[in-house]
This record gives sequence, C-alpha cells and structure tokens, in this order.
Amino acid sequence: MSRRVYLDHNASTPVHPEVLAEMLPYFSERFGNPSSIHAFGREAREGLDGARERVAGYLRVSAPEIVFTSGGTESDNLAVKGLAWARGRGHLITSRIEHHAVLRACQALEGHGFDVTYVGVDEHGMVDPDEVRRAIRPDTIAVSVMHANSEIGTIQPIGEIGRLTRERGIPFHVDAVQTLGKIPFDVGALGIDVLSFSAHKIYGPKGVAGLYVRKGTKMVAVQHGGEHERRRRAGTENVAGIVGLGKAVEVRARDMAAEAGRLAALRDRLVDGLRKGVPEVRLSGHPVQRLPGTASLLFRHVESESLVLGLDLKGIAVSAGSACTSGNVEPSHVLVAMGVPLDWAMGAVRCSLGRSTTAGDIDYVVECAEPLVRKLRAALPVGAA
Ligand SMILES: Cc1ncc(COP(=O)(O)O)c(C=O)c1O
Repeated sequence: MSRRVYLDHNASTPVHPEVLAEMLPYFSERFGNPSSIHAFGREAREGLDGARERVAGYLRVSAPEIVFTSGGTESDNLAVKGLAWARGRGHLITSRIEHHAVLRACQALEGHGFDVTYVGVDEHGMVDPDEVRRAIRPDTIAVSVMHANSEIGTIQPIGEIGRLTRERGIPFHVDAVQTLGKIPFDVGALGIDVLSFSAHKIYGPKGVAGLYVRKGTKMVAVQHGGEHERRRRAGTENVAGIVGLGKAVEVRARDMAAEAGRLAALRDRLVDGLRKGVPEVRLSGHPVQRLPGTASLLFRHVESESLVLGLDLKGIAVSAGSACTSGNVEPSHVLVAMGVPLDWAMGAVRCSLGRSTTAGDIDYVVECAEPLVRKLRAALPVGAA
C-alpha cells in the first residue's frame, strides 16, 4: 500500500488499543442499562462509576462534578445555555475565535434576548484578559473562553480570566476539548467553574464527552427526561463510550508528558522544513503559548483546499483553514479575527500531529508540499499573486 500520513489529530484520533480493549465487554456481556437495579444494570453502573472516578481523579475534582454527554458540541451547548438559562436573562462574554459549538450557542441565546460580547484577539490569536475585564457588566452572567484553539493552537490566559470571574462571582466556562490530555493544567487553580472535553480528540471513541461542573454552580439541563447524570443531562448513558473516555484519560495521564516533547520537536521539524523549502509560508498562532502538536501554516497565494486535496493524493491528511459555505470559499473566522490578510488566510493548512507521527512522516510531507505549492502558485491566474 502507498504511504499514508495522518496529520489531522485535532479533528479526530484513532481509538487507542488499550481503550478499545476496555470498551469491548460493554458492547456484549456488560450491556445492561446502568439505571437498572439488577446485576446486569449494576455491572454497567460499575463501568460508568469507574470512568467517572478516573476522569474526576485526573482533573482532581470530585466524581459527582463530572457529567457525561454525547460530544464536545453537546458539552459546550449544555455549558453555555445551561449557565444562561439558570439565570433567565443577562449578558455573556465569549471570544470571536471560539469553536462554533460555543459561538452558535451564544448566537442562539441572543435570539432569546440575552446579550453577548464577543471579545477580539491579537495577531497571535490571544484574548486579552483586560478586554474581558472591560466587557464585564453588572448583569454579566457567564464568561466562556476556550483553553486552546483547535485551528491555530494558541493557549489562552485562562488563569488570568478565571481570576477576574472568580473575584466577581461570574461562572467561567472553558472549552478544553483541545487541551485535556494534551497539556497539564489545574482546573481549581485556574478558577474554572465548567469545563468541556471530548473523547475522540484523545484516542477515545467519537460521540462521547464530558463536562466538569464545579459543585454549587447554577446550571440547568438542556435535554430533559430521566434522572441521569444527577439531572444535568437526561438519557441512558453511552456506557461503552464513557468507559473508553475514562481509559483514554488514564492513558493520556501516563503518556502525555513524554509525547508533548516529541510532538513539539516534530512540529518544529515540519515548520522549519517547510520554511526552508517553500517561499512565503508562515506559522500562525502564538510563537510560544501553543499546543505542542499543532502547526497552522499559511501559504500565501495558495488555496488551502487545493493544497489539502493535492496532499491527499499523496496519502497525506491535513485540514484546510478555510471553509466552503454555499459555494463560496471563506477564510476561517479565527484567522479573520486575528486580522490575517486574505492572501495569507485563504492558504491556511492545519497539521496536527499525534502519537503515530514519525520524523519520516514529517520529511515526506515537506518533500511533497514543496512541488505542490509551486504548481498551485504557477496555476494562479496572471495578476492574482
Ligand atoms: C475546541 C473544540 N470544541 C468543541 C469541539 C466539538 O467536539 P465534538 O467533535 O466532540 O463535538 C471541537 C472539535 O473539533 C473543538 O476542537
């Protein structure tokens, strides 16, 4: 088979073999409903409780503060809407570079009479805590800022923002879908009240995620039904998936530190290699405060989708920073918020490395990218460059 290189780990990751092994019995012999009181139910409940303990232990919080959901998107919606609806009306603060799960949830709340301030970012994609402070009003009921951005990898000053919200008693939600299990952090010390995370970004299965909700935080359910998850989220739990999430967190706790150094070195090898071989390419995001395995590269005067498709033909999987919406190619909202000029923003390609990435993979990507970029630039209409 021809060579395949997967550099899209921020989109999703393969399930770790140790995670899969723990999940499998919950599809067959331990299939019971965890709400049932008979032995079958109790076996499933054990799996659920064990996973909750594992996640809580990793975050150094208590098990009842963990709520399992169907994905990072649901966790973000539950956090933002649940915090807002618990208060009924008021003002929220978020950033312009959040994942759409937060941005669109905030827009939906605006449709219901809530006010939202979308704070900007600097050229590195960094939120200024001072701008958050200035945006706070007497009726501010929640602040939601992501921990690290999935496209550019910039890590936000969560501790400083958490200090502001804590001082004022405003609930603080952090989308940590791209950081939990990738970089170490202390939920308590950062002043976080609600935290979203998702299994499939950390070698767990898709369609399962969680939320940490600090004890005493007023947050109502978005999905109603039974008494599951302490009435924070109704619906029979995805037991096998949740067991997988618990194991994935445990594996990350064990492997994360060693992997972070290796990934940062490979990321630098990729960036240096491309910079040497390809004219007019630059790295976006913060030069230092960034995720170890994420490199968002801007290729000037190239259409990112053409580059992604060209690399795909070589067996390389990366993702485009622009999105095709109703026939028009739009630059990413993150790069627009950072003020990246259009001739650079349209050529944004994100490479996100993971546990299987090797130096050989990186060298292969560099080798394939150089002639491809040259070809794409040569094909541009005269005067476009
Ligand atoms: C920062 C961030 N938040 C939320 C999500 C949504 O997570 P899920 O795919 O589990 O719905 C993602 C996924 O890309 C993400 O990167």
